Amino acid sequence: DFFATVATKSDSGALRGDYSQADANYVVAQNWEAYTPAQHALWRRLYERQARLIPGRACDVFIDSLKALDVSQGIPRFDQTTEALFKATGWQLVAVPGLVPDHTFFEHLANRRFPVTVWLREEHEFDYIVEPDVFHDFFGHVPLLFNPVFANHLQEYGKGGLKALKLDGLAYLARLYWYTIEFGLIQSEQGLRIYGAGILSSGGEVEYCLSSEQPRRVPFDVERIMRTLYKIDTYQETYFVIRDFEQLFNDTAPDFTPIYERLKQQEALSAHSLLPGETNLPPNR
Ligand code: PHE
Ligand code: FE
Repeated sequence: DFFATVATKSDSGALRGDYSQADANYVVAQNWEAYTPAQHALWRRLYERQARLIPGRACDVFIDSLKALDVSQGIPRFDQTTEALFKATGWQLVAVPGLVPDHTFFEHLANRRFPVTVWLREEHEFDYIVEPDVFHDFFGHVPLLFNPVFANHLQEYGKGGLKALKLDGLAYLARLYWYTIEFGLIQSEQGLRIYGAGILSSGGEVEYCLSSEQPRRVPFDVERIMRTLYKIDTYQETYFVIRDFEQLFNDTAPDFTPIYERLKQQEALSAHSLLPGETNLPPNR
């Protein structure tokens, strides 16, 4: 995960995690042997809770990939997953100490490497955690990387991030990441489904985002999303819904340069705004 930008840093400004052994790309050894039995047990409990919630709520590729990954029993070995993932979509996992600088994050994605945090949350953080840990990064993000279209999109996002840094567009591009990769919903024949990692690794939001009358559910629109502020410490007030991963890929393919220029001239929209003529999709029943 990235996000100096997303402001998940602690009050002291210090990042959690041991950065002393990191290389120039912030990559470390996972050091799987160092996880304790108690940490594997905590992973199992996190896994069980989420696995119970996702049938009929997560999108098919998430459910199928998660099953195939077979990581219910403890913190996975990243290199084992990489073997299967590389065969499927040419992506690799790399271990990182925690959040990494935006530029580093984008470089990894642009080269089909997904950075996964090595540390696991503590018992008292079972329900809520400020910075992404190995459970969020792995459970939430890795299953989707087995879908070829999504995998291609995330690489393009990485390239787009490097470009946005030069164009002063990062704030806008970060909103796109937030409302898709982290909190995205997708339409299915049976109703709305989740593909966003921030929801899929959360105990409460899985049910809330699909069933509550409270939040808005608005059809995916790149520029609309990039204008919209988001919440980092509550459930989302708006979810954006894609038709399929092709839409995500195709609609983000055009050059964002003119969009960034337009957005710089506009006020941001609040997290719960609904524009005139915009559809607010009903929750699942
Ligand atoms: N098309 C975007 C640009 O020109 C790059 C991008 C692709 C961003 C995919 C996000 C996702 O900047
Ligand atoms: Fe994430």
